[in-house]
Amino acid sequence: MTVQVHQCSANVIQELLEELYHAYSGLNEGRVADYIPELAKACPDDFGIVIATPGGRIYEVGATRKEFTIQSISKPFIYALALKLLSLEFIASKIDVEPSGDAFNAISLDPESGKPRNPMINAGAIAASAQICDAFPGNSEEQLLDYFEQLAGRRLSINFDVYRSEKETGHRNRAIGHLLRNFNIIESDPEPALDLYFRQCAISVTCRDLAVMATTLACQGRNPFTGGQAISPEITVRVLALMGTCGMYDFAGQWLHDVGIPAKSGVAGGVMAVIPGRLGIATYSPSLDSFGNSVRGVAVCRQLSRGVGLSLFNQYYQVDATIRRSYLGSQRTSRRWRSDRELRILDPHRDEVQIIHVQGVLDFGGIEQMAAELAKLSDKVRILILDLAHVTECPVESSGLLDRQLCSMEDKGVDILLSRAGRLPMVSMPDWRITERVEAYEHLDSALEAAEEMLLSLYDTEAPPATVTVLADPRYPGFLGQLPDEHRVVLAERMSLRLFESGDVVIRGGDPGDELFLVQSGSFDIALKISSGDGVHHSTRLATFGAGLCFGEIGFIAQNPRTADIVATEAGACWVLHRDDFDALSHSHPQVVISLLKALTCDMGTKLSQTSVQLTLMEHY
Ligand code: DON
Repeated sequence: MTVQVHQCSANVIQELLEELYHAYSGLNEGRVADYIPELAKACPDDFGIVIATPGGRIYEVGATRKEFTIQSISKPFIYALALKLLSLEFIASKIDVEPSGDAFNAISLDPESGKPRNPMINAGAIAASAQICDAFPGNSEEQLLDYFEQLAGRRLSINFDVYRSEKETGHRNRAIGHLLRNFNIIESDPEPALDLYFRQCAISVTCRDLAVMATTLACQGRNPFTGGQAISPEITVRVLALMGTCGMYDFAGQWLHDVGIPAKSGVAGGVMAVIPGRLGIATYSPSLDSFGNSVRGVAVCRQLSRGVGLSLFNQYYQVDATIRRSYLGSQRTSRRWRSDRELRILDPHRDEVQIIHVQGVLDFGGIEQMAAELAKLSDKVRILILDLAHVTECPVESSGLLDRQLCSMEDKGVDILLSRAGRLPMVSMPDWRITERVEAYEHLDSALEAAEEMLLSLYDTEAPPATVTVLADPRYPGFLGQLPDEHRVVLAERMSLRLFESGDVVIRGGDPGDELFLVQSGSFDIALKISSGDGVHHSTRLATFGAGLCFGEIGFIAQNPRTADIVATEAGACWVLHRDDFDALSHSHPQVVISLLKALTCDMGTKLSQTSVQLTLMEHY
């Protein structure tokens, strides 16, 4: 799913960024890197801050579109590419994952194996670039830029002035490359690896690009702005862990203590920080501290962490945030109107249905909360409706747990119905063994109706109702049963039987309300058109009427135009009383009209009472 970029302004987050910008614009400590001569041309006053969100919102202030070279911020992404192209095991045989505690350009190799301590220091990054060179001999630059395009959401390019400047002066890195060759970490001529490394460090980015790349990492490797999966979730986890322990080099320990956010810095002045699952942060300011990290960038991230609680070690506990609502079937009925006979059978058993609405991410914590709620279910519950409308994700790692929990309930004889799982393509829950045993419903109302039908089939032990085809039949079900027989006979003479096929529009919104419908057979839905705000309309069921029930009575009595469409959802037939006949009856048989109006009033009262109870309960639960 891609999100539209939404440039945000004039809200508290934008104000926060502007306050940070003004607070640290005057921080003029540090110095611009010059060991790569081209980098010395950077302007120390340049300063930009960007925050990007998985929902596609971007907040930015200052020099956020100014290009600079990515330098070491390329390293986590190159490491991810090496893991993707080769294997975790192979790369582990070449590069360790331990913080070195040394500077970024230290020759931190394991004395025995010669392996670089981690892929965030130059030695580890050059070793990673070498593996990519071996995997992509000859054409690695194009592959590199294709890959970074997926991460940034736009085509990036190489700053060849910086590339040449570093290539001409990169003697220390060249020594590292040959030392890696000596230990056979690089198994061929190190020059191509060094060349690729110098090119990757010279990729031009903006502060905004880095924020998008950070958000891609925050979204488990999926770029929320393009929808592309640039890095797998499994590799993203590893990259973030290394950014947390090694991303800021020999400042990493202090960083984790003070800031607590996985981050990576670059000597051109960029800092990229990631709040997994929440945010991407980027800053740009070329003046560096003694560790090679941007002075202002570090200050901004430290203030963000402390000021608004972004540290990973400062996560707020969620007490049962997953359970949105949990209630029994008597608190919520489907919108299929039931006949008196059906109500007589259903009502005593409605609390054998439990409805649970869950929300958020069904990660381990979410599953734990669900399991605790399910463990509280009464023994009499035999049908569970699980509504997932507000679930945003069900990670594969935890969907197996949920499947086991639900299967154990099924083994105890509880039928499980899912509703509104559409946001979660079942593919995101591949381990759900119950999927072939679980009915999934697009709407909660449909699941409620299915549960009622299950109860009716369980408990309807009465003789099936007589099939009444004649309105005057005293066994006629539904509200007309309240009329004296002689009145029903008179009424029957004035009503005509109208047949409908499935899909027929029986009443159209705006039509004059001059007909009353009594259902003889079939099923008829009132649909409500709802606009989803972006001009898209969809219809949702307002009510369904079956044999013995009436509809169209409100418009008929008030003589108002119809307010909604009514459609036959199953082939059937209705007796129809037209207004002209109703008016004639008012003169010829006023008593019949009075008892009809009394019956209609009672029926509308029942519907109104049920509706208001449902609405009240929905607010309560
Ligand atoms: O290899 C170098 O020295 C540079 N191309 C990258 C170093 C760097 O960005 C260190 N990060 N703070």
